[in-house]
Amino acid sequence: MWIKRLQLTDFRSYSEAVVDFDPGPNVIQGRNGAGKTNLLESVSFLSTLSSHRVAASAPLVRAGCRRSHIGAELIEDGRSIQVQVRITPGQAVSVTIGGASARPRDLPGLFRTVLFAPEDLAIVKGDPANRRSFIDHVLIQRAPRYHSVISDLERVVRQRTALLRSALGHLRNSDRQSVEQTLGVWDDQLVSTGAELLRGRLKLIDEMSEPVAESYRELAPHSRAGVSYHAKSLGVEPDGSANLPRDKESLAELMREVLIGRREEELARGQTLVGPHRDDVFLSIDGMPARGYASHGESWSLALALRLGSFRVLWEVDQSGSQPVLLLDDVFAELDAERRSFLASFAAGVDQCLITVAVAEDVPERLGGRRLDVVGGSGEISSGQVKSSDGAP
Ligand SMILES: Nc1ncnc2c1ncn2[C@@H]1O[C@H](COP(=O)(O)OP(=O)(O)OP(=O)(O)O)[C@@H](O)[C@H]1O
Ligand SMILES: [Mg+2]
Repeated sequence: MWIKRLQLTDFRSYSEAVVDFDPGPNVIQGRNGAGKTNLLESVSFLSTLSSHRVAASAPLVRAGCRRSHIGAELIEDGRSIQVQVRITPGQAVSVTIGGASARPRDLPGLFRTVLFAPEDLAIVKGDPANRRSFIDHVLIQRAPRYHSVISDLERVVRQRTALLRSALGHLRNSDRQSVEQTLGVWDDQLVSTGAELLRGRLKLIDEMSEPVAESYRELAPHSRAGVSYHAKSLGVEPDGSANLPRDKESLAELMREVLIGRREEELARGQTLVGPHRDDVFLSIDGMPARGYASHGESWSLALALRLGSFRVLWEVDQSGSQPVLLLDDVFAELDAERRSFLASFAAGVDQCLITVAVAEDVPERLGGRRLDVVGGSGEISSGQVKSSDGAP
């Protein structure tokens, strides 16, 4: 699948923009602040319904406007599909596919992208929430039903934690009985959705570990990168997930055991301490934890290997053999000559790739493809406009 035309209305700095892309490489160039990342972010949002830069949707809507629209014409096997999302802060995103309204979860399954951006360094160097979010986004694109599993789990954890918090400090015997009773109901839901997500994440990491290691070998032939699931909240060692069961029932049983064992601690701290929302992904280079040990360049390579590994996994999983669209935001400037050249060859070989760059020379010339200039106005928010360098609108 590839994106032929992108249409934005009141998205970020764009009041109205229509951009045409080609299959193969598309290099989007322009000065700092011109609106390059905004374009890539809109494409990525269309496929993941989330932004890599912000959690809330308000910044995605042009200042002073109430809502924004991202529309696209996608091409799959010569067939054209129109998709559109409407973003209204404080409301659920609304989605149309082929002109008919659709469930939000239908979009990530239809249109897959893999975005590599400077923010990805946080996957390696940042706190566990960054790694959980990375893995969950790949999981949703691979199997869209996880969109609802993840939101169900978030709701259960929120409500269960609220109950634990409200019980903090005043647990007399009579209160305790009723708290335990209500907790029992939440425990069932926590164990059920938690085990479902845990199973999905474990299987995905099983599938990803080789493609990630292979991608890392291509970037740094003399070292080995490792990625494994760290079921921290179940008391498993960082690289010990190989011994965990892979079926939902056994995982649920295990979660329940640990949950019962930590009941007093949860009541004393007012927190939900057991579940995938407390887990991590263990990343290593030559057996050493990447976080805290890897050099800046190694961290970049590992972040890139995680994205290229995801690309390979998402490509394989698609029955039709269609590739995700590769989005590279401002990353060439960060890489040394060898890695730059490797990434350029990878990008040249995919069905479609959108690349942003502030300095045109940072992208190897031989990459070829279409070049687009983003011409931001003199500080005016409304003037974000895109025209192709060959003069086409
Ligand atoms: N909601 C919004 N409303 C209006 N303008 C916005 C909004 N969000 C972001 N902007 C503006 O969009 C501009 C372009 O941002 P963008 O991140 O796309 O630039 P860029 O071309 O990627 O720059 P760089 O090369 O520095 O990465 C910024 O000046 C920013 O202030
Ligand atoms: Mg940018």
